[in-house]
Amino acid sequence: MNHVNMYEQEHQTVKINTIKGNLWLTALTPEIIHIQDDAAHATNSYAVEGNKQEVVPLTVAVQDGKVEITTPKLRIEIDQDGYLDIFNEHDQVVLADYRGQREKTVVQFSEEQQELLKAEGHVVVKQSTASKLEVVKVLNTNDHFYGLGDKTGFLDKRGYTYDNWNTDEPNQGEEVTKLYKSIPFLIGTNGITTYGLFFDNSFASHFDLGKESTKYFYYTVAGGGLDYYFMLGSNVADVVTNYTYLTGRTPLPQKWALGYHQSRYSYKTEQDVYQVTQKLRELQLPCDTVHLDIDYMDGYRVFTVDKNRFPDMKRLLADLKTNHFKVVTIIDPGVKKDDQYHIYCEGVKAQLFATNPDRSVYTNSVWPGVSVYPDFGQAKTRQWWACNQKFLTDLGVSGVWNDMNEPASFNGPIPDETVFFDENQPTTIQKMHNLYGHNMARATYAGFKKQTGNRPFVITRAAYAGTQKYSTVWTGDNRSSWAALQMMIPQLCNLGLSGFSFAGTDIGGFLGDTNPELLTRWIEAGIFSPLLRNHSCAGTRMQEPWQFGEPTLAIYRKYLQLRYQLIDYLYDLFAQGESDGLPIMRPLVTHYGTDPEVLNLNDEFLVGSDLLVAPVVAPGVTKRMVYLPEGSWYDYWTGYSYAGQAYYLVDAPLDQLPLFVKDGAIIPLRPVTEYIDVQAENMITFKLWGEQGTYHHYQDNGADFAYQNGEYNLYEIKMTANNDAIRLMHHGYQPVYRQINLQRGDLVISFYFDATVQTYKTK
Ligand code: GLC
Repeated sequence: MNHVNMYEQEHQTVKINTIKGNLWLTALTPEIIHIQDDAAHATNSYAVEGNKQEVVPLTVAVQDGKVEITTPKLRIEIDQDGYLDIFNEHDQVVLADYRGQREKTVVQFSEEQQELLKAEGHVVVKQSTASKLEVVKVLNTNDHFYGLGDKTGFLDKRGYTYDNWNTDEPNQGEEVTKLYKSIPFLIGTNGITTYGLFFDNSFASHFDLGKESTKYFYYTVAGGGLDYYFMLGSNVADVVTNYTYLTGRTPLPQKWALGYHQSRYSYKTEQDVYQVTQKLRELQLPCDTVHLDIDYMDGYRVFTVDKNRFPDMKRLLADLKTNHFKVVTIIDPGVKKDDQYHIYCEGVKAQLFATNPDRSVYTNSVWPGVSVYPDFGQAKTRQWWACNQKFLTDLGVSGVWNDMNEPASFNGPIPDETVFFDENQPTTIQKMHNLYGHNMARATYAGFKKQTGNRPFVITRAAYAGTQKYSTVWTGDNRSSWAALQMMIPQLCNLGLSGFSFAGTDIGGFLGDTNPELLTRWIEAGIFSPLLRNHSCAGTRMQEPWQFGEPTLAIYRKYLQLRYQLIDYLYDLFAQGESDGLPIMRPLVTHYGTDPEVLNLNDEFLVGSDLLVAPVVAPGVTKRMVYLPEGSWYDYWTGYSYAGQAYYLVDAPLDQLPLFVKDGAIIPLRPVTEYIDVQAENMITFKLWGEQGTYHHYQDNGADFAYQNGEYNLYEIKMTANNDAIRLMHHGYQPVYRQINLQRGDLVISFYFDATVQTYKTK
């Protein structure tokens, strides 16, 4: 150790002695700094796996009583009081600690008033008590906030408060502060400087983003230590790349998973499943996957099948396979307490369930009645759970939908002292609650990977930062309401900025009855949501696309066909996402952060950087205002060209989704199919929008991990005014496309692969 009064340095870690105690600062990259107190310094992370430290040239000095740490990209000053300010390479303050006292908001609320409000049926929300330690930062007039996972409300989180305590919350109104996921990651930007803050602490936490005061924003947490990462970026996209470098990137999925999924709580019998799949094919509605909700199980016992409703599940799944349908089954964590049930007995015997402080197995209630909770914080429980996936894979199940893993408990909250393990250390639910869904998804992922060798398809409702490495997510129990449709856009956009590139909502809405206009606008708005699933609750009106007759059915089909035509655009974005971490659905602020018009733009989004979607999300609307950012844009349907940085009033009759393409984009297009069949894909078209462009297209077997050993193809398509060229940049996957069409307007030129020279030529 290198002693210099205020600090000690060991490689890239600097320990600073402040009045408030030690602060440990580690430079992981020139832009990412890990900040911890003594309590946090000794702990492990569930979000960050592996060593993320790169070699960073670091200078440390003491200047005017402050320790100054400088990397090639930023400088941090820490004073003796423990306050910390961060500057960029241009010496601009990016983020500063707030020195004043918090001006706590006064709320008058007597016990008596609370009781009266409850009597009238109000839900009385207590102020957050997550206040073991707090981090208070200066808030400036132009600051805007994004991220935080699946929280309710609008895109820009400024002015709101949010809580991180994974909650099974069927009310998803704007005022609700906590939902199913805890992603304590925030992006702050003022258009000039941009940064990310990731608080890696799983205890209940609270963010106040300028509600209490216009001078500061703060974070408080109920337990554990001070443990956060600061990351700099030149814009929002850069910060997302840094954050996903740290917590991991959404892996390339199996290609079929990008198709359409049809679900319902529940398709209760094998006849229901046959009927629904037959209907999808008969009506030529492209679809790859059907979901089985809880009623396929025997009394809601996980890893069982109800033999009366599904006499031969294996045969059913094999039949569906010949018709090119995959089946995804739900698996909840709650294990029915039943001495005759092998999963329960095995878990009790091996001590795999959460316990009361006296070591007796803890019980609460979920769908199966009295149930116990696998303790996923322990490696042995995760391994056991992973092995249990074999039951599903042996039946031919293609993916798993992990639900109720906040975990939900019907019989009141799980008491604070309930014992859950943090790996080998007993601790309580207070620390492990927000990690529960994360560890369950991780176990499911491991099991599926081992059993099938394919890229696992897992969906989870609850998540923590980093869960994107194992699982796609959906936003839980939304409503069949216009408000829920409106919220889908900011919710999925913020999930994307929080690392969750593979996300979706229940198309049509889960709770309540949908209606033809709502379902139509929902499929239009949702057609680019990476996870595309129509799902609805028992007791609500059926909401498959044919339930409302025409024109709903025809419009629904038109958009499913659009999705399947553009499937390679999405797949290419997923492939690209493994290296840049950028989501599929992006708010405009991702790429146009200096444009004030887009800072809180809630009803438009980008798909990648070349498509701009401006759906109608209100009833009775047939025209809407669309903002197009810098550059020029084309109307996808008419080819009409628009200059950017302007608002336009565009037509949006019921069957038309306002959709725009950026000038210079090349978009891959596939012939419409009813299911994704990678083996049959031997021809593709690339359409140029504008005068010239370049595009990189990725191709592999769409199924397993061979691509990680080089078994993929990468094509470069270059179209200029006088020359078009197709170059096979990497050829590791057999076969290549036999035919590639390049399209400009209505003009199509076909190129054919010439194996002798390994290149594409016109005939
Ligand atoms: C939960 C899920 C929902 C599912 C239901 C029954 O409410 O969020 O999607 O259909 O449980 O399993």
